Amino acid sequence: MQIGSSTLLDIRNVTKDFPGTRALDNVSMEVKEGEIHGLCGENGAGKSTLMKILSGSHPYGTYEGQVFFQGEPVRFAGIRDSEARGIRIIHQELALVKQMTVAENIFLGAEPAKHGIVDEMRLYSDTRELLGRSGLNVPGTALVGTLGVGQQQMVEIAKALRGHVRLLILDEPTSALNDAEVENLMQTLRELKHSGVTCIYISHKLRELFDIADHITVLRDGRCIGTAATCDLTEDEVIAMMVGRAPTGRFPPRTRQAGKVMFSVRNWTVRNPENRDLYAVRNISFDVRAGEILGISGLMGSGRTELLQSLFGEYGLQPSGELMIDGKRHKVNSSRDAIALGMGLVTEDRKNTGLIPMHSVTHNMTLPSLPNLSNGPMVDTSLELASTLGLVKELNIRAPSIESRVETLSGGNQQKVSIAKWLMTNPRILMLDEPTRGIDVGTKYQIYELMDELAADGMAIIMASSDLPEILGMSDRILVMHAGTMAGIVESEAANPELIMSLAAMGAGRG
Ligand SMILES: Nc1ncnc2c1ncn2[C@@H]1O[C@H](COP(=O)(O)OP(=O)(O)OP(=O)(O)O)[C@@H](O)[C@H]1O
Ligand SMILES: [Mg+2]
Repeated sequence: MQIGSSTLLDIRNVTKDFPGTRALDNVSMEVKEGEIHGLCGENGAGKSTLMKILSGSHPYGTYEGQVFFQGEPVRFAGIRDSEARGIRIIHQELALVKQMTVAENIFLGAEPAKHGIVDEMRLYSDTRELLGRSGLNVPGTALVGTLGVGQQQMVEIAKALRGHVRLLILDEPTSALNDAEVENLMQTLRELKHSGVTCIYISHKLRELFDIADHITVLRDGRCIGTAATCDLTEDEVIAMMVGRAPTGRFPPRTRQAGKVMFSVRNWTVRNPENRDLYAVRNISFDVRAGEILGISGLMGSGRTELLQSLFGEYGLQPSGELMIDGKRHKVNSSRDAIALGMGLVTEDRKNTGLIPMHSVTHNMTLPSLPNLSNGPMVDTSLELASTLGLVKELNIRAPSIESRVETLSGGNQQKVSIAKWLMTNPRILMLDEPTRGIDVGTKYQIYELMDELAADGMAIIMASSDLPEILGMSDRILVMHAGTMAGIVESEAANPELIMSLAAMGAGRG
């Protein structure tokens, strides 16, 4: 189908207030029938809030202004109303039930039934069809909890394609996907566009937007800065619209210098907790010096996360091998041991392991550091306050107040809180798993700058990331993993995308 000149969605003068924050300020925006419309803006710009209005999660009456869909004003009281009109949203944070199968998740609340009981045959055959359309190759009977984050994201997409879809909203769908999965998703979206589905696509990855979007709209501080045809825009122009100034380079200059070896790992091996005959991580050995950033690269499922979690004492079974700090061997049986030894881990999946959503920014940030912030049995509240405010400022965390619940922060700002929480413990060895996932370009630069400063102050940093430019731009050395094993360690001067990718894809014995 051609992109029509007719308007599918017309947002007029929408304003949305939260206590202490104006999330949207008189936003107007138009989406054409049959197009893919890209939406971008810094963390906290209001993207998710606007989409929640379109999908009825923020019901009519909780905002000002008017939304027209297919020419009619809409007054959604909840998400069911928007679904009835063919609007589907895939939220930024995954929302699947881990204990249920893929099929049960996809058809949750809408199971096909025959004579009043769930028609299992149809449930699984319909699921197969939807999985096929979204390009995910897992059985419908698999438990969602056993899938990786990327696969779970694809299940969300399959779920959204259920029934009649007119407008599909994807709120940062690719932050957890690897390159092949992103390409797969792009293909699915192009096919959906051909079949007449209109799409709003939110991403911090401008390359994706330029690849797929017909128009791009930029929000900044709750205001709509503008909409233009993608072919009339450059990436730098969009960045300038997002941040309100011309873009700087992508990576800060390196001020750090490597010192003594601080952290060493030898023959680190961890069995797969589900199947003890398999290994999650096998025979990994490396050193990290003070003042150094060691990058960990590898395809999804290569064991990066399992490596970091097991070093931190938080992965299933007792690992074998040696962990040494300043040349001394240590045993780490829990995150408590790890923290006591001066280690910190910023986890990849903040919703499940990083943060407590209902608790305040302060509480989340200070939780692992309470021993340091205490004076005897009492927490030194003025010290707690000073440390929190200092990091909020340093990381530019946008929250109405440090007493706000973390769940009310935008996705990127939540990620910053989880980084701040570990910086507060003053670790000597900081491990970060996908530190900039879902973070906007401006803030990414700040995080990179901070990592360089911390290393320059003598910290040893280990960063696992699936973002290859980030790995190449930030690492002093790169450990590449393949199927739980070490495919190689590459010095940054010798590193290039082709080398890293071929090691990641084929393992050692290559190149
Ligand atoms: N439920 C809520 N209660 C209070 N404030 C909220 C709530 N939801 C969002 N906000 C605030 O509204 C603003 C816009 O947030 P929103 O989540 O829309 O940003 P975003 O553009 O999606 O950012 P990101 O790229 O980080 O996901 C932020 O300041 C956020 O803290
Ligand atoms: Mg968002």
